[in-house]
Formats: sequence, structure tokens, C-alpha cells
Amino acid sequence: MVIRFKLPTMGTILLVLLVGLFSAGTASADGIAHIHPHPRMLSLVQQQPLVLEYHNGALLKGNYSLTLLWYGSFSPAQRAIIVDFFNSLSTPIPTAGKKVPPTVASWWRTTESYKSGATAISVGRQVLMDRYPLGKTLTPRNIRLLATPGRHKNIITVVLTAADVSVEGFCMSSCGSHGSARLPWSKTRGARFPYIWVGNSATQCPGQCAWPFHRPIYGPQSPPLVAPNRDVGIDGMVINLATLVAGTVTNPYDQGFFQGPKEAPLEAVSACTGMFGSGAFPGYPGNVLTDPVTKASYNAVGIRLRKYLLPAMWNPKTSQCATLGGAHLLIRGELCEASWPRLESETDQALKRKGQHTLKRDAKDGSVPRPKTARTREYGKGEGVRGIGRWAPSPSMAVEPVGHLT
Ligand SMILES: *[C@@H]1O[C@H](CO)[C@@H](O)[C@H](O)[C@H]1NC(C)=O
Repeated sequence: MVIRFKLPTMGTILLVLLVGLFSAGTASADGIAHIHPHPRMLSLVQQQPLVLEYHNGALLKGNYSLTLLWYGSFSPAQRAIIVDFFNSLSTPIPTAGKKVPPTVASWWRTTESYKSGATAISVGRQVLMDRYPLGKTLTPRNIRLLATPGRHKNIITVVLTAADVSVEGFCMSSCGSHGSARLPWSKTRGARFPYIWVGNSATQCPGQCAWPFHRPIYGPQSPPLVAPNRDVGIDGMVINLATLVAGTVTNPYDQGFFQGPKEAPLEAVSACTGMFGSGAFPGYPGNVLTDPVTKASYNAVGIRLRKYLLPAMWNPKTSQCATLGGAHLLIRGELCEASWPRLESETDQALKRKGQHTLKRDAKDGSVPRPKTARTREYGKGEGVRGIGRWAPSPSMAVEPVGHLT
């Protein structure tokens, strides 16, 4: 499926405006009642109970390692943000009796309720392709060819394209996609393998693919949030990767959990587009935590106490989009921070040491390891590649049908 954003039609703009007007304290998707300053026209914004149906096919359960293909230039600091995110999915944070905010691992644990059984994720092989072996303009077929070589058993391959790479459909209609392709018949009898692609939108379309860290280009505007790792493009990629990894394990081959047509499914996280905290409504990501010093917005911590902002995920047990933290996050950031000790991640400490305790992007640390050239032999046809797009997020828009990436 493709992470797809929709350019709003006049109708959606109107709806969004209405919703914006009337939903200052909307009922949140976590189903917990809120105290509202004034009565609202609930009928305008109330959501249908959301049900992702199970289509009786395979899910990815058990141990999976991620092969990361870095296409184009990424700094070590940028790669660390994403690698730490992935390695946080299945690594509980030892809390030693301390109160900590929700963790990335607690977010991921919701996937265990899709049928039953955990999916443990870790980062495996990484390939740097910083010499752009296929150039700076890629097609979906190029992405599939990049993803095909190498081992695939219990592996999800993730292609990450740098900010200066244009991919057909990227920023026009999508922020990334996941799908599957077949291996050559001779060796594997055409076994399928899952893969994901996400692009860095920092320079091409941060308003579409890095919201809420950048102003949306259309629709209701609220001030952008400060990206938790001070990198709008990479923190935006984390949101899209979170969406697609959850979609991959719960609907790897179009027969898992989704709502709507299989060519344009709403999956675990894409069904909850635009929601990050309680009280989210179109154009407003919801109540999340704010670091009092850096002003970074986040709702989960991972390994090395790195902060992340993760999207809501549909919970099969409640048939609701669950935002992180539930009742705790109903209180605005500052209050939550007051009851949690301020968490200083390694990034915070490093910035402090450098005397840069501000909102600067991580410096590009010079040296990049030697590139390995990707093999680009042609293999079987891709199938079922879908994307998700995130235009500035609106649950109401999320139910609109979206099309094939290819
Ligand atoms: C997954 O890995 C863990 C630890 O490495 C191991 O204990 C467990 O048996 C593995 N599970 C499966 C299904 O292979």
C-alpha cells in the first residue's frame, strides 16, 4: 500500500473547515471521554466504528530482520535516528521503577493483537548506495529491483531514498509504499517477499510527507511541531516507516487486515491517518508530549531514550485507533512532563556538550563508508504495491479510496 496524500477537493476542504470549527475538543479515537469547553456538533465529526477485516491470509509473525538499503546520501546521524527507531520496536526500555512515557515497544505491541503472536523486529544488513547506482530519478520498478537481491527469508527489505532522489509518484501522490514481489522461479518457486520504500521529503514536499513537523500546504493550519530528532525529513520518514512496517506485518500480501478494496486498503496505521495524540482532528495532530527545553514534540521513547512521534494504530481489541499513552496524554504536554522526569536522550546530551542546546539539525558528520553497488538484475514482477499518502492528515479524508502506485 502507498502512503498517499490526497489533495483535498473543495468538499473535503469544507468538511475540514467545519470539523475544525466545531471540534476544538473532539472525541478522541481512544474512546476516552473528554471534558469539552463547549458542546460540539458531534454528529459532524463522530467516526464510524472502524473495522479492519481479516482476509484470511498470511501475516508476518515471529522474528524478522530488516535489510536497510540507503539510496543516496544520508548522514550517520540520520541513519542512527531510523536504525534506533527500528531497533526500539522490539526492545523494551528498562524503566527500573521510574515513570517513563510510552515506549516505541509498547506502540508496536498492538500488532500482537492482529490474530495472535508477536513480530520481533531488528535491523539486520545495511547497504549504502550513496553513489546513486540507478541515478536520481527512480520508478517503482527500480525500487523493486533494488529490493530484490539478497536473502529474504524472515526479512523485510526497506529502501530509503535520500532527499535529492525523485521517485515516480513521490510528492505527487505518495510518501512511500509497501508491497511484495516474487523471486525467480528457478531457485525459489517464485516465493514472495515483502518490501517497503520511503523517501526523505525534506526538500521536495515536507508539507505533505513530513507533517506535522512542517506546515501542510493545504487545509487547516496549525503551527508545525518541533521534530523530536531535529530533522524534519528524517522524523517524517519515521512516521511513514512506522505506518508501512505496521501495514507490512498485518497485511503483507493483500490478504491480511484492512478495510476497503485491496488495491487501496486502509491498514493498521493508515486507517488512522493524521492522529498522534488524544483529541486529534483534521489539521491538528492531537495532544502529545513536549520537551520543556528543546520544545520537541514526541509521544514515545525508544532505545537510548531517543524520542519519536508515532502515529495512532488501530487496535483490534477495541476497534479504535489508539493513540499512545491513552489517559495519560489527555493532559497537555507540560503536565505530563511534570510527572515524568525530563528524559535526556543521548542526542540531547551531545547537543548540550556542543553548546547547541537548540533546535538545530544534526550536523552532517563527514565520512560515509564506501558504497556497495547494488545489483540490479531483473527478477520477477512486483505485485500488490500500495502506498500511503499523507497529506495533512484528516481521518475524514483517510476513508477516501486511494489508487495503485503502479
Ligand atoms: C526469536 O528470537 C528469540 C531470541 O533471539 C528466540 O528466543 C525465539 O525462539 C525466536 N522465535 C522464533 C519464532 O524463531
